[in-house]
Amino acid sequence: MQITGKAAVVSGGASGIGKATALELAKRGARVLIADMDEAQGASVVDAITADGGEAAFQRCDVTKSADLSAAFEACKSAFGRFDIAFNNAGIAGEDIFEENASNWERVLDIDLRAVMDATRLEVRLMRESGGGVIVNTASMGGLVPMPGSPTYAAAKAGVVHFTRSLANLGTQWNVRVNAICPTFTDTPLVRRNGDERLDELKAMVGGILQPEDVAAGVVELIEDDSRAGAIMRVTVRGGRDYARELRA
Ligand code: NAI
Repeated sequence: MQITGKAAVVSGGASGIGKATALELAKRGARVLIADMDEAQGASVVDAITADGGEAAFQRCDVTKSADLSAAFEACKSAFGRFDIAFNNAGIAGEDIFEENASNWERVLDIDLRAVMDATRLEVRLMRESGGGVIVNTASMGGLVPMPGSPTYAAAKAGVVHFTRSLANLGTQWNVRVNAICPTFTDTPLVRRNGDERLDELKAMVGGILQPEDVAAGVVELIEDDSRAGAIMRVTVRGGRDYARELRA
């Protein structure tokens, strides 16, 4: 799909990977709706896009609420007259599954998996009605390889990978291509929250750290390449961008 002239909703667009992708899509001539819980940061991304001559809007949205998601898609249509691209990217890290009274792990599942499925479900319905679209889901390398310190996060992201793979047929069926992106550690507030020492450990594990712009470039490729449906793109420091192969039964 050519990006110029299209309209995109970017969840988690106020920070990190979502912010870099929103800026890149706008630079390429898309109108962008930032859907995020962080109003101040969201507004600053809108300001950055408009200052650069682009078009953007913000809608406060908690992706775990279907009504908020629907309101964001409607806001995109009413602001820009169309809705072609969805980047389901909002996510959180962190879990304490073995702690007594732990509940954070349930929130990880809720935001990182269930909300992505809910958003995709609603988006496919709308895009089908309007003749087609492209959806990119943010998974993680943790969805492809085990993450001993974050098993729930890994399970959620593996869920996103397999959910996305299972939707490959929607490309030919309804002209809605659904793809996922799996980056290794990326320099955003999400990984910086745990301090410099942890950051160095993560870098050593995978050979360095990606910049959010590296991931945004992958999202652009997934949108533009009409041959990709149900595709799982890896973005890594060591290997650059490539595609994970289908698993065989
Ligand atoms: P970030 O913390 O910089 O940005 C996440 C954004 O999501 C924030 O603006 C936050 O307000 C928003 N958000 C969180 N919960 C939300 C909710 N319930 N509703 C709406 N918005 C919500 O994080 P980053 O790194 O940009 O992460 C983006 C995605 O990339 C996440 O899905 C994350 O799991 C994934 N990812 C991140 C990697 C990393 O190393 N930073 C590596 C692989 C995947």
